[in-house]
Amino acid sequence: MNCPASPPQPDRRSVLTHLLRWAAGLSGLALLHPLLKFSGFTVRPKPKYIKIAAPLPRSGVHAEREFFLFASADRSTAWAVSRTCTHLGCRVNFLEDKQLIECPCHQSRFTPQGERLAGPAQRNLPMFSVEVEQDATGKVTGYVVTV
Ligand code: FES
Repeated sequence: MNCPASPPQPDRRSVLTHLLRWAAGLSGLALLHPLLKFSGFTVRPKPKYIKIAAPLPRSGVHAEREFFLFASADRSTAWAVSRTCTHLGCRVNFLEDKQLIECPCHQSRFTPQGERLAGPAQRNLPMFSVEVEQDATGKVTGYVVTV
């Protein structure tokens, strides 16, 4: 005898149907990720703002993990060049005596502006935008690099 106030009990068939629907949904989500990657869909990471206080060293070059910050002689213009080699991704070094950026892995060489000169790398080094901060008198107080 059924009690009229108790909710109906799910039968085995409806439980299995629910489980199969969940499994199909999870399988679809699992397939979606490689499909999106294959189609080239990427989520761009949020930009990072890295502040470097003035003055820069006498050489006009400041090295960070991700980039080199170069400044003109009067320090009014600045540019940032990525330190990730466009060949296979090694971290490049700046040779101050030769005024060159060189990759330690396969010796690709670049100008301080990131232009490729030689080596297996086929592309220039990427540039990052730099904002020069000045005080009220026009004196440079720092640089903000957007990575
Ligand atoms: S990784 Fe830089 S030249 Fe090969």
